[in-house]
Amino acid sequence: MRSVCLLGSTGSIGCQTLDVIAAFPDRFRVTALSAYSQVDLLADQARRFHASTAVIAREDLIPALREALAGTHTRVLGGMEGLCEVAANPAADMVVTAMVGAAGLLPLLAAAKAGKTIALANKEPLVAAGELVMAAVQEGQATLIPVDSEPSAIFQCLQGQDRCGLAKIILTASGGALKGLSPEQLERVTPEEALNHPTWRMGRKITIDSATLMNKGLEVIEAHWLFDVPIAQIHITIHPQSIVHSLVEFQDGSLLAQCGIPSMCTPIQYALGYPERLPHNWAPLDLEAVGTLTFQQPDFSRFPAPALARQAAAVGGTATTCLNAANEEAVIAFLDHHIGFMEIPRLVEKALTAHTPIPHPTLEQVLETDRKVRESVRRMAILY
Ligand SMILES: NC(=O)c1ccc[n+]([C@@H]2O[C@H](COP(=O)([O-])OP(=O)(O)OC[C@H]3O[C@@H](n4cnc5c(N)ncnc54)[C@H](OP(=O)(O)O)[C@@H]3O)[C@@H](O)[C@H]2O)c1
Repeated sequence: MRSVCLLGSTGSIGCQTLDVIAAFPDRFRVTALSAYSQVDLLADQARRFHASTAVIAREDLIPALREALAGTHTRVLGGMEGLCEVAANPAADMVVTAMVGAAGLLPLLAAAKAGKTIALANKEPLVAAGELVMAAVQEGQATLIPVDSEPSAIFQCLQGQDRCGLAKIILTASGGALKGLSPEQLERVTPEEALNHPTWRMGRKITIDSATLMNKGLEVIEAHWLFDVPIAQIHITIHPQSIVHSLVEFQDGSLLAQCGIPSMCTPIQYALGYPERLPHNWAPLDLEAVGTLTFQQPDFSRFPAPALARQAAAVGGTATTCLNAANEEAVIAFLDHHIGFMEIPRLVEKALTAHTPIPHPTLEQVLETDRKVRESVRRMAILY
């Protein structure tokens, strides 16, 4: 029986993780769940899964969560302190990080230092502070298992392989909701249009990141840290069918791919059960029904975000902290109708140009950079 602490249980990945856990009641037990503000859903989940602890990140909502869980044995915690406490608590063997944004950094560091097996969905902390996260993983002798479908595919393709033979990682991208639009049309895209993803149902932030292709940029940096592969050896290809979740190329020219239906339940279940492969209860991939798989080069002139991510990764240090913070704030400003769609990469570029990177930053320097960049991007967004 694996005991699981699930951070971000009320989100898209969080709810799908609970579906997987519910399908294997004799394998997994929930110790702790968390949300940012969805008190009622968090309380329902805590009751249903008999969670020992429920954490609400917004501390002003602690009384409401206490009330919603009255009469249960679930302990209520709040804020960042509560998130870090459950992430490091000995009650959990495994921590699933399904929060969104760099807000997940401190709980991830706490879980890593406590030596947990970490099923990592929340990629932004690796982008914001990859060096610190990997050092904490080493210090705590923690294990990182990717949940995101592309890094999970690479992780699966690398099982049992001689890493010296690895030549290239190829990340697939669906291309998002807007891949066919002209530069003029992209300028006029509304949040509602950008949120209408053709193949994946996900949280709002990652859906916009998919539309700008920043998600692929973040994944390039995530893959760099997870697999210790230079950025230049990580490629992106557009694959609209979302069947091939990513590939690795070896020195002998062989390519290995991991394929499956476009559902996050597969990589979530793989991460929870690793190294065992648990049986699935969904319709398997029907290759003949899919028929054709296509691959094409991304158009980085219309979608500049991945190039910005590569540029920040090449500089290193707090440049990727800046990239991530600027992108998070620009996405919020777009979703709030303050800026246009193409202002997202423009604001990120402006933030990167203004930023003086700090090499090998401390945690304090990462947090300070994150705070300052967010402030400056919010100010720039207001001026539009
Ligand atoms: N969705 C996917 O298919 C997918 C695929 C691959 C990777 N990922 C990655 O997985 C992560 C989660 O994505 P998602 O789509 O599941 O996001 P989501 O649906 O927006 O859910 C985010 C979760 O985090 C909580 N949360 C939000 N802001 C927080 C904060 N400041 N402090 C603490 N908790 C906070 C939310 O609580 P409330 O519900 O109370 O707001 C919710 O439980 C992201 O890093 C994303 O890049 C997602």
